[in-house]
Amino acid sequence: MSFLPIEQAPARLNRSELAIPGSQSQMFEKAAKSDVDVIFLDLEDAVAPDEKEQARKNIIAALNDIDWGTKTMSVRINGLDTHYMYRDVVDVVEQAGERLDLIMIPKVGTSADVYAVDMLVTQIEDAKGLKKRIGFEHIIETALGMQNVSEIAAASKRNESLHFGVADYAASTRARTTIIGGVNPDYSVLTDPMDDGARMTHWGDMWHYALARMVVAARANGLRPIDGPFGDFQDPEGYKAAAKRAAVLGCEGKWAIHPSQIALANEVMSPSDAEVTKAQRILEAMADAEAAGKGAVSLDGRLIDYASIRQAEVLVEKARQISG
Ligand code: GLV
Ligand code: MG
Repeated sequence: MSFLPIEQAPARLNRSELAIPGSQSQMFEKAAKSDVDVIFLDLEDAVAPDEKEQARKNIIAALNDIDWGTKTMSVRINGLDTHYMYRDVVDVVEQAGERLDLIMIPKVGTSADVYAVDMLVTQIEDAKGLKKRIGFEHIIETALGMQNVSEIAAASKRNESLHFGVADYAASTRARTTIIGGVNPDYSVLTDPMDDGARMTHWGDMWHYALARMVVAARANGLRPIDGPFGDFQDPEGYKAAAKRAAVLGCEGKWAIHPSQIALANEVMSPSDAEVTKAQRILEAMADAEAAGKGAVSLDGRLIDYASIRQAEVLVEKARQISG
């Protein structure tokens, strides 16, 4: 290990994160009763300009009046390039800061963006005597944000998670797609001709690099990497495939832009019973090996060593969090 310790963000379950437009207050109660881990009430892209003010009021009232149980509550503010943003922060934190756990900052581009919001939130928390420190979630969804992702991840003690905003990222990088998430047949590999001359097309994942880069920046700074939206909510299989790819890369959650995606995210982002049992067996086998003075042993015909302990502990800890 490096001598530099990595401070971990507060441990929160973040398998599923439901997006709800602040203008759609009729959706709030149902969301509060759902199985989602985190809810973000949106003031940004799902809210039309002439609805922003009312959405802000709805969100403040909802945070104060609805019983959200133990859910982690977040608000997505407008971007720092808009005149809505300062009021989003001031009004929501001043009037509903007690129940707010996180602020989601969209289109974050530089560490100075994080600094600016941190300064504002710190002043409001101090002035209001708020005891709980509000955390930050950052959407990495522009070329600038991706270029500066490491500095953004390290920019504030409030930082808890990085989210891959695939739709805006596609727009910002001018990627040739108009769907939200998912794959594109043009991003494929054509095999060389086989004996019979036939060739095969293997579809690739055009988001792989961006997601993997964000995961590294998040984990190197003790933050949760979270995969963003999958727009086609009538395609649960496509959603699960995208969620699984993200999970394999190290993401611990995915957005739900429709309630039907909550269960899918929770399922994919929770370790299976078989995985947890295997992890527990690894820990037991390594404890026996250590007692016998050995650093590596074989289990089910495969080598396990001290790195296996760390991998297994991640899974067992996650299962513990889920079971409450
Ligand atoms: C999310 O905000 C996205 O742009 O995908
Ligand atoms: Mg976006």
